[in-house]
Amino acid sequence: MHIDILTLFPPMVESFFTSSIMSRAVERKLVSYNIVNFRDFASDRHRTCDDVPYGGGAGMVLKPEPLYAALESIGAGDKRVIFPSPSGKLFTQSYAEELSREENLVFICGHYEGLDQRVIDTYVDDEISIGDYVLSSGESATTVIIDAIYRLLDGVINSESLADESFSSSLLEYPQYTRPERYCTKSVPDVLLSGHHERIATWRVFRKLEKTMLSRPEVLAQASLDLEERRRLIDLINEIKG
Ligand code: ADE
Repeated sequence: MHIDILTLFPPMVESFFTSSIMSRAVERKLVSYNIVNFRDFASDRHRTCDDVPYGGGAGMVLKPEPLYAALESIGAGDKRVIFPSPSGKLFTQSYAEELSREENLVFICGHYEGLDQRVIDTYVDDEISIGDYVLSSGESATTVIIDAIYRLLDGVINSESLADESFSSSLLEYPQYTRPERYCTKSVPDVLLSGHHERIATWRVFRKLEKTMLSRPEVLAQASLDLEERRRLIDLINEIKG
């Protein structure tokens, strides 16, 4: 997958591509990226990228000319262009899965009050919100979205870990423990030390249901549960009822 990021603050996204799992994905050529400072495409003496909104109002708006030029320079017309914005469609795991099937993605990072609507109308395919709150920079939303996408690409993370994690089965993840067996008066649940794979699997389903029910009841209401999960849900409800 190739990712272009248009930003006025390249260092905010550079570190994401040069650290941790992403840097390995880049080294192994599973991901390539191109960070474009669209200020380089502003043509006036002061390299202006924003201006006051027509019709009045607070804040500034990103001007169309530098962005049109930057987008043309990377051939954005043939690529899926994403504008992270609090007014966009809500980002979810299934949205990440859909985007992970693209060969090319382009992100436009906003920083001010908004982006001239003509840029959105001409180039943007997806306006995406990462949640119902407002961030001061599109760069952080962009790296959140990229993070959820690239880790789904073949070879980035082993497929067993992906299958096990929250949302992949529409439930939240079960709790995990590692050595030592006892720490600060707290012990690892006995079942995990038992070596009994079936009992461990049942315990994990139980804990997933419990966690989802307590933390995200609306996720549980929409989950498509398999037979084992439905059985454990009934057990859990009976246990709660006492
Ligand atoms: N930019 C500012 N806030 C945002 C949000 N919640 N989601 C995506 N982009 C944003």
